[in-house]
Amino acid sequence: MIILSVETSCDETSVAITKDGQDVLSNVVLSQMNTHALYGGVVPEIASREHVKGIHQVFKKAMEEADVTAKDIDLVAVTQGPGLIGSLLVGINAAKAFAFAHQKPIIGVHHIVGHIYANQIEKPMQFPLLALVISGGHTELILMKGHYDFVRLGKTEDDAIGEAYDKIARVLEIGYPGGPKVDAIAQKGQPVYKMPDVSVKDLNFSYSGLKSHIINLHHHHHQKNEPVNKEDLAASFQQAAFKQIFEKTQIAIEKYHPKQLVIAGGVASNSYIRKHIHTLKDSIDVVIPAFEYCTDNAAMIGIAAYYQWQKNPHSFSMNFNGEARHSIEFNI
Ligand code: KG4
Ligand code: ZN
Repeated sequence: MIILSVETSCDETSVAITKDGQDVLSNVVLSQMNTHALYGGVVPEIASREHVKGIHQVFKKAMEEADVTAKDIDLVAVTQGPGLIGSLLVGINAAKAFAFAHQKPIIGVHHIVGHIYANQIEKPMQFPLLALVISGGHTELILMKGHYDFVRLGKTEDDAIGEAYDKIARVLEIGYPGGPKVDAIAQKGQPVYKMPDVSVKDLNFSYSGLKSHIINLHHHHHQKNEPVNKEDLAASFQQAAFKQIFEKTQIAIEKYHPKQLVIAGGVASNSYIRKHIHTLKDSIDVVIPAFEYCTDNAAMIGIAAYYQWQKNPHSFSMNFNGEARHSIEFNI
């Protein structure tokens, strides 16, 4: 089955062509990073306009690179949310227009489900599977007993880990995008600053305390005219941010005995987690997507769409009045 997929939930305009549940024939990503860098963060109105400008050429390039024409496409898939509404609408309408013009079926895919399925590009999923979702908007542990079967075990009680990274980069004035910048300077520092011990119940997470602590610490140093060592502060934050992640993931592994642990979302590109995740006690199979599939991309949406379609081809279709219909409660 050849799938054309579209992802425009935030600041990347992406179209991919995928085959069945694992093969990526093309994955074109047009990043708006340089445009938003001028403002220190994503400006939703600008993001929507940039998607409008780029979407046509991204469709064309994805089809050329995969060497397919419209008649080869069996299914169209598009990110239906969560995301910036104006950005999502550009992708959804482009996908619907393509599907309508070429009389193809179309389905809407949950963005976070896409991030989880990015791991299927690396390696076939093995169930039960534990997914650690660490992105700009989500920090969650999800248990999957089979394809398209999701149970959320825990989530952040306040901010997402990626959000905390972005905020700290802004406070330290090290530029945008925040996550990779903090990651880069943390590699040159030592975790010498004391961080608060965060403890929230069950398999949940919390990042607002850690975030406020860094802001206050930076502020106090600034008021006293004492320079703060940004590298050391970033390293201290990073270590504390992942301490929770490792602790909760370990508890979930001991409780649910998954065969595989997959890491999903933009923060999966972080060097600290890529280096340390394999030190988890159990001999569990750990999968992390290649860098290009960690941050937003349409290939992950196409791969997820294949399994969504297999599960129930009729109940997920998006009708041409714009309503997304699906019968499975995603719960995430
Ligand atoms: O998955 P994603 O593209 O966005 C959502 O779906 O929410 O992830 C973007 C997030 C941003 O918060 C970004 O700062 C973070 O991922 N990120 C990183 C790194 N690369 C991206 N955070 C820490 N270290 C990185 N290397
Ligand atoms: Zn994302």
